[in-house]
Amino acid sequence: MILAKTDAAGERGLHPAVLAFSSSLTLDKQLLREDLLGSLAHLTMLSRREIIPREAAAQIRAGIIAIWTAAQQGTLELPDEEDVHMAVESLLTTRLGESAGLLHTARSRNDQVALDLRLHVREQCALALESLSALIELLTSRAAASQEIFIPSYTHRQRAQPISLAYLLCGYAAMFARDAEALSFVLQQCDVLALGVGAIGGTSLPIDRTITAELLRFSRITTNGLDTVGDRDFALDFAYATARSMVHVSRVSTDIIDFSTAEFGYAKLDGEIACGSSMMPQKRNPDLFELLRGKSGRAIGNLTGLFVTLKGLPGGYNRDQQEDRQALLETGPLLRTALETLALGLSRVQFDGERTLAALNADYMQATDVAEALAQKGIPFRTAYGLTGKLVRRCQDEKLPLSRATLAMAQAIDPRFDAEVMQACDPRASVLRKRNEGGTGPASVQTQIATLQERARQIAAQAKMVPRLDSTFASIQSASLS
Ligand code: ARG
Repeated sequence: MILAKTDAAGERGLHPAVLAFSSSLTLDKQLLREDLLGSLAHLTMLSRREIIPREAAAQIRAGIIAIWTAAQQGTLELPDEEDVHMAVESLLTTRLGESAGLLHTARSRNDQVALDLRLHVREQCALALESLSALIELLTSRAAASQEIFIPSYTHRQRAQPISLAYLLCGYAAMFARDAEALSFVLQQCDVLALGVGAIGGTSLPIDRTITAELLRFSRITTNGLDTVGDRDFALDFAYATARSMVHVSRVSTDIIDFSTAEFGYAKLDGEIACGSSMMPQKRNPDLFELLRGKSGRAIGNLTGLFVTLKGLPGGYNRDQQEDRQALLETGPLLRTALETLALGLSRVQFDGERTLAALNADYMQATDVAEALAQKGIPFRTAYGLTGKLVRRCQDEKLPLSRATLAMAQAIDPRFDAEVMQACDPRASVLRKRNEGGTGPASVQTQIATLQERARQIAAQAKMVPRLDSTFASIQSASLS
């Protein structure tokens, strides 16, 4: 039965081209589980409140479960309807006849889609948190094994200061730990029941939204229906958190792309992740990391698209909001795939500690440490900076790296240079001498690794706490109807 062509969704005889144009089914069929779950909870509430007869509710429940099961088994065919909500109603009507119509009591597709989208975002956040936890775990265990590998750091993409590879990897992990915080905020934003406000102004039927909220494991209910049906802030928040995380993925990718060039020569991609060229037999291309970088553009586009869709809409529900679907449904899988692929890629990047140390030894990146060694002797830092600058220029004139500066050269500039100060010319010492919290010194890096590993565990635990579609459906399936 095609409901969209009946007065359930407009005038009889909707033009097929209008139906095709306005249908969101090709996209929102991805919300089938969310829709069935919401319907099951709503049905249970209607039955408990004796708004619909219990026997009819039991039959509708069996119908919803049958659709869920068929979908799980891959045998479900959805009828050609305007959206997933009408498709489910149509399937139930085919099975049960008129009594299927009881399900839509005190409900509108406006609050139904508002619910489904929140359930979707909640599920996707849980999955993304799992991926983030695994990525942070990978980065930090790799960091733990990389404390003795020294590598240049960069500001302005110019060599800056020596750091440990562990510090670099912890720096990446810190970004992803922050992404988990952004997702926690998104989870808070969508932890609110939208169903039960009807089309906009509510219902005269004696529903109890707290029952539905409890069944669906939302901790709050929305407070104003006009706002509820028009609100897609949680979608913006999710798209923003995703875009931001994808920018992190992109920036890490750029490092790997650069580090694996012959010009840097710091990292090598394993055969499993290096792509070839159809023409140049010698190539080992970092396509994987380039695509990760490229896909961050899609995430930003999705956020922008959502903003543009919402901008200028009047209050309440507007059909424009259906255009949120493409962007929002792409967001979760895009983020998860990117995080998992980045983890896979990074696990197959080999850093060349000899090359990175050679780069440090050939340069002047420890100059700040020399200046600080002078400062520690009571010389004002600005003076120490100037004296060290002179030493650097002297080395450069003689085509020597700073690690080969001699005490005699230094003392010719200023007698306050001594053997102890000159120890700071060793790039490894530069890393080892760092003392501040949050720096590249070994003690700080140890703390960073431990803290981030603890965060990875917390994030995994947080993901486990999020109510999931499957388990929530299973629990409502056996909940009492009275
Ligand atoms: N397919 C619609 C959407 O996704 C469902 C809500 C339709 N509401 C309406 N009054 N036509 O936004």
